[in-house]
Amino acid sequence: MILIKENVNSIEEFNYLYDAVGWESYDEKVSEKALANTMYSVSVYDDDKIIGYGRIIGDGICFLYIHDVMVIPKYQNKKIGSQIMNKLLEKVNQIKIENPYVRVYLGASKGKEKFYERFGFIKREDANLGSGMILDGFDD
Ligand SMILES: CC(C)(COP(=O)(O)OP(=O)(O)OC[C@H]1O[C@@H](n2cnc3c(N)ncnc32)[C@H](O)[C@@H]1OP(=O)(O)O)[C@@H](O)C(=O)NCCC(=O)NCCS
Repeated sequence: MILIKENVNSIEEFNYLYDAVGWESYDEKVSEKALANTMYSVSVYDDDKIIGYGRIIGDGICFLYIHDVMVIPKYQNKKIGSQIMNKLLEKVNQIKIENPYVRVYLGASKGKEKFYERFGFIKREDANLGSGMILDGFDD
């Protein structure tokens, strides 16, 4: 049975998903800190097997950043990514009650823009804003 729940059970599961979608997982200590500093996250399980995840980082009221939305390949295109996004956006809507001006960002991987457009995300240039930028020197 597919079940979506808040948080993730373990660092191992988080790293497993990273590897499964082809991103190289972080050192466990790095993942541990990343998860500890995460504002809100959801995980999807097929019975007790982790199959998807997404999280929000940020200050919890003015600036939020959606990150690490991932579904293992075997389960992709079954609306699981959509369930993850809807749950993260429910959280955003709760925060909007307190601050309607909250800004929600994400950095889409190449080719994933269309997936996020379904949930109302637009390119910054289309909102007449400057580019999103990233400090140079990161490894893709
Ligand atoms: C991107 C990702 C999370 C989507 O999850 P998913 O469970 O496969 O997506 P869904 O089944 O909910 O897709 C919903 C719709 O978006 C579409 N869609 C999904 N990925 C898409 C893409 N890259 N480009 C265009 N449309 C896409 C689906 O075809 C589907 O369309 P439909 O409603 O007409 O059937 C998943 O492919 C994934 O984990 N990829 C690897 C990790 C990654 O790159 N994550 C994004 C980081 S920015």
